[in-house]
Amino acid sequence: MANISDSDAWKFLQQHAGDIGDVHLRDLFEQDPNRYEKYSIRVQNILLDYSKNPVTDETMKGLLDLAKAAGVENWRERMFHGDRINSTENRAVLHTALRNRTNTPVYLDGENVMEVVNHELGRMKVFVDSVRKGEWRGYSGKRITDVVNIGVGGSDLGPRMVTQALRRYADDRIKVHFVSNVDGVEIANVLRPLNPERVMFVVASKTFTTSETMTNAQTARNWLMSSAFDERAVGSHFVAVSTNHEAVKAFGIKRENTFQMWDWVGGRYSLWSVIGLPIALCLGFKQFEQLLTGAHEMDIHFRDAPMEKNAPVLLALVGLWNSTFLGRQSQAILPYDWPLARFAAYLQQADMESNGKSVDHEGNQVPYSTGSIIWGSLGIDGQHAFYQYLHQSKTVVPADFIGSIESSTPVRGHHENLMANFFAQTEALMNGIDEGEVRRDLEAKGMKPDAINALIPHKVHAGDRPTNTLLLERLDPRTLGALIALYEHKIFVQGVIWDICSFDQWGVELGKTLAKQILPELTGGSVSDKHDSSTRHLIEYFNEQRRK
Ligand code: F6P
Repeated sequence: MANISDSDAWKFLQQHAGDIGDVHLRDLFEQDPNRYEKYSIRVQNILLDYSKNPVTDETMKGLLDLAKAAGVENWRERMFHGDRINSTENRAVLHTALRNRTNTPVYLDGENVMEVVNHELGRMKVFVDSVRKGEWRGYSGKRITDVVNIGVGGSDLGPRMVTQALRRYADDRIKVHFVSNVDGVEIANVLRPLNPERVMFVVASKTFTTSETMTNAQTARNWLMSSAFDERAVGSHFVAVSTNHEAVKAFGIKRENTFQMWDWVGGRYSLWSVIGLPIALCLGFKQFEQLLTGAHEMDIHFRDAPMEKNAPVLLALVGLWNSTFLGRQSQAILPYDWPLARFAAYLQQADMESNGKSVDHEGNQVPYSTGSIIWGSLGIDGQHAFYQYLHQSKTVVPADFIGSIESSTPVRGHHENLMANFFAQTEALMNGIDEGEVRRDLEAKGMKPDAINALIPHKVHAGDRPTNTLLLERLDPRTLGALIALYEHKIFVQGVIWDICSFDQWGVELGKTLAKQILPELTGGSVSDKHDSSTRHLIEYFNEQRRK
């Protein structure tokens, strides 16, 4: 088979999309009262209801056939086994080994990677305990009270999202701050209230070449020096997480303060490694282990459950149905759990950097759309901002609604209010409200017929907007670990079916290269005439205005 789109399963789904396209979700529920029982699944503490999607038994069978035709089971095996499935970088993809709590050996080039994983986790624990207990001292002998993580992308988004999500499990021993942006505003704001004698910097960069991170790390170092006046202070205030020990050494961070990463961990899949240091420093190592346990349990489910009862597979298939076959390219992530405020931003990188590709493993253009535009924010705030678009625009945006049965911080009357909105929105998006109902409602309010007729088109909601509901028992470290792993595997399954390499990110390189070339042009160098006229004029205008 040349391409998955030549498979019988694909052709069936293409034709089926035409058939089902006109059937309203409301009708699907009327035709089959058992949709919830059939199209929901509970794994660990997570209930996934995907029944409010335009799928029938036929659709699900077609999608499962497609997954088989694409070899999802085989790819899954290869990933867990440590095969070099990151084909363009010739790397294994073993973030699952980082949270392999049962310690079953995972071999890569004849070496059991669990040995290095456990060794690094052990070092991490010792470091975390000594900082949290106040045994680790700054250059002037004071204990560390604040940790600043300097990193960007995968070296920032995961730890930043998780520390916020699990704040209620933290104590006050260590406050964690994040600096990712090279806009000086961020680092200046973070450092302003801090005391250099009590700050630990974690420079998190897999490559240790990312210019934004290196610039911020240098500024942090200068800030420390302006108080310590002694290079030796770097030893007690800087640690690094990286694969690039030479560059770390050149920056002045000692080997014993450097934690190891490996090329078989992608940046956006790295929060389970020592990149998770800020999480462990903030919550304690035990809670970090709980996070790993939750993810590991989801790994086992993903690896062992049959495809038709496999939550990541089902989530992937329904998403792919909506996007590739029904042409709904956008996907909203809408948490109704305040601590998950940064979850959409986290998934944006995980998903879009993984699956925003156009060519297959051999470099051929794929003849279908891949990836989704992932976006979103806290549901309640979204309701008063962009939900108008979700309910009534011409564009259908499938959405994942994520909420918890137990509130993270119970305040009388709040959680019921929050969750009433949570359930109301998916119901409204699915059912909508038709002309008859709008008319009856306005008549009951005593409105005149002419006014009713004028208002009806504006008040009708077409409905038929697909949603998934993910209901967590509570947002604890274990459940969050499972939730993140659920999405990671969803992304993996979709990438396999699209036949793209989900683990490289060549698309971010060009911009980085050009920025490197432009930087000297902004700092006194001449502006190259190789730029297009727009870019050249913009740079010249910028320089002229700054000189004024
Ligand atoms: O911008 C792309 C990227 O390479 C991401 O994939 C990665 O998470 C981020 O930059 C940070 O990279 P590093 O950890 O090497 O600094």
